[in-house]
Amino acid sequence: MIIQPRVRGFICLTSHPEGTAEHVKQQIDYVKSKGEIKDGPKKVLVIGASTGFGLASRITAAFGSQAATIGVFFEKPAAPGKPGTAGWYNSAAFEQQATEAGLYAKSINGDAFSDEVKKQAIELIKKDLGQVDLVVYSLASPRRTHPKTGVAHASVLKPIGQPFTNKTVDFHSGVISDISIQPVESEDDINNTVAVMGGEDWKFWIEELKAANVLAEGVKTVAYSYIGPELTYPIYRNGTIGKAKDDLEGTVPFLNELLKDLHGISYVSVNKALVTQSSSAIPVVPLYISLLYKVMKEKGIHEGTIEQMQRLFAERLYSGSAPALDEKGRIRVDDLEMREDVQAEVAALWEQATTENLEEISDIAGYRNDFFNLFGFNLDEVDYEAETNEVVRVPSITE
Ligand code: NAI
Repeated sequence: MIIQPRVRGFICLTSHPEGTAEHVKQQIDYVKSKGEIKDGPKKVLVIGASTGFGLASRITAAFGSQAATIGVFFEKPAAPGKPGTAGWYNSAAFEQQATEAGLYAKSINGDAFSDEVKKQAIELIKKDLGQVDLVVYSLASPRRTHPKTGVAHASVLKPIGQPFTNKTVDFHSGVISDISIQPVESEDDINNTVAVMGGEDWKFWIEELKAANVLAEGVKTVAYSYIGPELTYPIYRNGTIGKAKDDLEGTVPFLNELLKDLHGISYVSVNKALVTQSSSAIPVVPLYISLLYKVMKEKGIHEGTIEQMQRLFAERLYSGSAPALDEKGRIRVDDLEMREDVQAEVAALWEQATTENLEEISDIAGYRNDFFNLFGFNLDEVDYEAETNEVVRVPSITE
C-alpha cells in the first residue's frame, strides 16, 4: 500500500516501514561512527525498547558494544491494509539489522507492567542468555494496570496547587496560544500518575529478575528522568509527572540495596528534552523544545536521542570509572540543555515568541521534521509515493 502520514493532534496514526527502517539505520550508523564502547554491556534487557530513548539505548548497546539484546515493548503489529505502529516497524528493522550484524536480538510485545510479561522475559533470558548485565527501564505510558491489585491507573499531566497558564504551540500550524491547565482536584491524580510513571514497576522488574537469578554479577540498571527549565516546572517537575519522577529517582537507594550482594548498581539518568511520541503530548513542552533546538543547533551542541544515549553509555555508564552524580545522586546528560547561556537565550526567546515570528526565532521546522521522522516520514531516502509492503514481521515474534 501507499502510506502517507495521517496526523491527529500530537499523534500520527500511520507509520512507514521503510522510513522507520531508514531512521533506525541512521541511528545504527551514528553509533558505529563513534567506535566501540570499551567494556560496554554484553547482555541487555531493554524495557520500552521500541521508540525514543529505549530504542536508542538498545541500538547503542548492540552496535556500540556488540551486546545481545532483548527488547520489551507494547506496539500494534502490522496487518494487511493496516500499518503497524512506528515502534513495531522500528523493532522489526532493529532485529533484522542486528541479526545481519551477527548480534542476538529478540523481542517481547506485551504489557511490561504485567506479571506475565515479566515471566516471559525471565524465561527468554534463562533460555538464551543465562543472565543480563544491564537492564534499561524506559517506559512511557499513559496508563498501568497494577499487577497485584488489578486497579487501572491513568496518569494525568496537571499542575499541583494552582492553575498554570503559559504559551503553547500547535506544532503543525505554528499557532501560539495561551493554555490554562487546572490543578489536580485530589491526591488521586498524583497517586495515579505516580503509580504509572513512578518507580514501583522498575522495582518489581528488578526484584523479579533477581529472584529468578537472571541478573549477572556487577549488573547495572538505569531509568530515565527529566528536569527542564523553570518555565515548565508547574506542568512538569512540580506537577503530577514530576511527583512520579521524584518517586522513580527515590527508587535508586532501594535498588542499590537489593543489588548489593551482586555488586550491582542502579542509576537514574536525567536526559535532554527531545521530540518523542511521549513528549509531544505534554502542553508547553513542544514550544520550549523548538526554541531549545534553535539555540543548541546554533551553538553546535544539539543532540538527538541516539547522541544522548551514546554519550550516556560511553561517557557515563561505561566510561571506566564511576559516573559523576548530581546532589540528588543522578547522572546528568541534560548538562548541555541546562547550561546557563542556553537557558538564558531560550528564556529570552520564550518572551518574544508569537505566531508571527515563530518560524524565524525557533526551530519549529526541526521539531516537525523530528516528529515525522519518528513515524518514518520526511526522510529523503524514501519514496512516499511508491507502494510498500505494510505487513512486516518482527522476526523473533510469532503472532
Ligand atoms: P517513547 O514514547 O518514545 O517510548 C516509550 C516506550 O515504552 C515504547 O517502547 C513503548 O512501546 C513502551 N511502552 C509503553 N507502555 C508500555 C507497556 N505497558 N508495556 C510495554 N512497553 C510499553 O518515550 P520516551 O520519550 O523515549 O520516554 C522514555 C523515558 O524517558 C520516560 O521515562 C521519559 O519520561 C524519559 N524522558 C523523556 C524525555 C523526552 O524529552 N522525551 C526527556 C527525559 C526523560
